[in-house]
Amino acid sequence: MIRPPAPRCSRRGLIGFPVGSGGRGTCGRLILSALCAAIFSGCSPPSSAPPPDAKPLTGRQIFLAKCVVCHLADGKGVPNLYPSLTSSPRLSGPPEKLVRIMLLGLKGPQIRNGTTFNGMMPSWRFDLTDSQIADVLNDVIARWSPGTRALPLDLVTAMRRQTASEKLFPTPEEVDGK
Ligand code: HEC
Repeated sequence: MIRPPAPRCSRRGLIGFPVGSGGRGTCGRLILSALCAAIFSGCSPPSSAPPPDAKPLTGRQIFLAKCVVCHLADGKGVPNLYPSLTSSPRLSGPPEKLVRIMLLGLKGPQIRNGTTFNGMMPSWRFDLTDSQIADVLNDVIARWSPGTRALPLDLVTAMRRQTASEKLFPTPEEVDGK
């Protein structure tokens, strides 16, 4: 036998909801129980709702989302199309050049491992925040140039300001000449 909920609840529930005798009464009480349960369970979201995604993406997650399509998950790239990051001399070179390439992109021939690459590296200045650029580059550096120091976030912030009026897609010579 289903018992009516707590007195306070059923009194409230009964207002404007006359419950007759017999079967109708049981039915009314059932509805009231459900109503009261709904009222007193509060307004919490359904338990199946995913928690708000407050965690920022890690450098590795950014790499997997943005870079693997060309440089591949192992960073080795595609011969003649996308250069290998694992053997790029830029990882241990001046960090400003790496940041500049990320912010402005890169276009034009350069030789890597005896092969000329003449593709187009996208600019990430409109897609990634300063900390995302720092994090993804530091993930790349940590994996494939382990002796090299991580680059600081404020370098990216400063370079973003410094390169704001520069044209996108400099050539490798232009990057190296800076
Ligand atoms: C659409 C393809 C594409 C995507 C996506 C891409 N790259 Fe590139 N990347 C290139 C190409 C092509 C070059 C070489 C351009 C050239 O030599 O003219 C390059 C060059 C580079 C270089 C310089 C390598 C060197 O030795 O000079 C770095 C560093 C780099 N990419 C990092 C990244 C990172 C980090 C991401 C993800 C945020 C990324 N790339 C996403 C195509 C891509």
